[in-house]
Amino acid sequence: MLRRPSLLILAAAVAAGAWLRPQSSTSETASDQAKGTTVTPLTRSWERAVPAQDTPDGLETLRAAECGECHSAIYEEWKTTAHALALEDLQFQAEWRKDDNLWLCLNCHTPLENQLERIVTGLKNGDFRSPVAHPNDRFDATLRDEGITCAACHVRDGTILGPGLAEDAPHPVASGAGLLSQQMCEGCHNVQEQLSETLICTFATGDEWRASGLAEEGKGCIDCHMPAVMRPLVEGGDVRPGHEHTWMGAGVAKLPQLVEPLRMAHVPGYDVEVRARRTSSDTGEKVLIDASIMNARAGHELPTGDPERFITLDLVLLDDSDVSHWSHTERIGELWEWAPEAKQISDNSLKPGERREFHYAVSLSHGVDDLLFVEIIARNHRMTEENARAMGIYGRYPLAVETIHQYVSVVEAREERKVHEQW
Ligand code: HEC
Ligand code: HEC
Ligand code: HEC
Ligand code: HEC
Ligand code: HEC
Repeated sequence: MLRRPSLLILAAAVAAGAWLRPQSSTSETASDQAKGTTVTPLTRSWERAVPAQDTPDGLETLRAAECGECHSAIYEEWKTTAHALALEDLQFQAEWRKDDNLWLCLNCHTPLENQLERIVTGLKNGDFRSPVAHPNDRFDATLRDEGITCAACHVRDGTILGPGLAEDAPHPVASGAGLLSQQMCEGCHNVQEQLSETLICTFATGDEWRASGLAEEGKGCIDCHMPAVMRPLVEGGDVRPGHEHTWMGAGVAKLPQLVEPLRMAHVPGYDVEVRARRTSSDTGEKVLIDASIMNARAGHELPTGDPERFITLDLVLLDDSDVSHWSHTERIGELWEWAPEAKQISDNSLKPGERREFHYAVSLSHGVDDLLFVEIIARNHRMTEENARAMGIYGRYPLAVETIHQYVSVVEAREERKVHEQW
């Protein structure tokens, strides 16, 4: 039977170098053969969820809400993260609906089989749009709604994996050193795949990290995104080394009520520097502005991950009556075209440690005697307003966070010589 046209294009994408493992083998059941259908097994890691887990002895369910009855501090942190909200997220719901509630999205957004209503075991004729699925009798709808829940990372073979040090836990514990590592993060955060003309996954945070040189320093995802903390694991327990379960990213909240707490806790991964001076010559008066932005604290590109993210740097030249004489916006991130075919148009993301400089010469109209200032505003954006409107979530979903808001004075002409010597 002929494959669907989208798969032919997919094959072309593979030839062009897109990452896709060849479909190694196929298996056919008697009834499928009768229908002329070939069932292709699932070969790629994200085509499967984490296999169904039993509830560890001493617990009643696998639910985060139950873990939270004892591990309240970690639970309260987790509850506000993109991980906990990975299913109910308005943007996820909007994009998922647009993709006909495609099964494979759930393998990363609700990653445990116990969270899946139906289990996919193969693809008809290799077509990801035609899964072979059967109902899951271990499905727990409450657990599903918890998105990337505690058990997805911590429960295997009826045991809770962690540092493996607890002696008086009410549930079995074991060392999770092999599982609870950066490799687990990368299983979801480092996936590049083209499934059709328009369905594409381009997360390369792990590869960007490998290119950063931070591996040699032994500093990975968990060190930066789950900072070390000394505290009891349960209320009244001994103080022990632990990890914040905050996974702070670019600081753009997923829920309106999280905007303010996140803005307070977030530290941008970049530094911005601006200097400005006023000069005069035969051709008139000018303000020369030198600005730079440096990826100073992230172990990967900024922005990373979702290609719709971007950073803006706004510069406004103001006088002391707040009148604007000039303004300019730099945009940092990827630009894509999504139709008729997903295609990257440009990418000026900042590599780890990279410092980008911008120079502007602003001509002043005569008669500006006031002192001048440059207002500097940096923002992290989740997506454009236009995209939020197209998804029907505009006005209900935080789109950006202001990360830096400063003023610098323009050094006046009479000080110029002194300044010139300093620079
Ligand atoms: C009834 C209370 C209770 C519940 C419910 C509970 N835990 Fe625990 N857990 C504990 C106690 C007590 C410890 C040991 C604390 C200590 O040693 O300081 C512990 C230890 C741990 C550890 C550290 C184990 C190690 O390797 O040292 C992890 C990880 C953990 N729990 C995860 C979970 C997860 C995930 C859930 C839910 C699926 C859960 N716990 C449910 C009470 C609970
Ligand atoms: C099972 C898949 C999965 C695993 C494993 C995973 N993540 Fe995530 N992560 C996601 C998804 C999905 C989102 C975004 C959810 C959303 O926005 O709807 C996310 C979001 C994030 C964000 C927040 C980005 C933002 O928008 O603010 C950070 C930071 C992050 N993850 C870091 C990590 C780290 C570090 C690890 C390893 C300890 C890890 N993740 C493991 C799937 C995963
Ligand atoms: C995305 C994966 C992920 C999720 C989701 C997650 N954890 Fe963890 N957890 C980790 C990692 C990684 C560590 C660090 C393990 C280590 O270094 O030994 C950890 C450590 C722990 C520890 C040991 C103490 C500490 O802080 O290092 C406890 C207890 C724990 N988690 C409980 C929970 C609970 C309860 C939830 C849900 C509310 C949860 N975790 C959700 C990945 C996760
Ligand atoms: C050296 C520290 C460091 C390391 C290592 C690191 N990150 Fe980050 N990461 C950051 C900082 C800082 C930010 C926030 C940037 C900002 O807001 O400007 C960030 C942001 C993110 C975001 C949100 C990106 C965005 O643009 O919204 C994700 C997702 C993420 N990191 C995942 C990961 C994963 C996965 C790894 C491991 C492969 C990792 N990070 C390693 C420091 C680090
Ligand atoms: C391989 C695992 C994986 C699969 C499969 C997957 N996602 Fe995600 N998704 C992620 C990760 C990881 C993030 C967080 C990326 C980041 O913050 O850098 C994410 C984030 C998102 C976001 C939030 C973007 C943002 O800016 O916060 C949406 C929406 C989303 N995914 C939708 C989908 C849809 C729809 C599908 C199916 C067509 C899907 N995902 C399949 C791993 C996956």
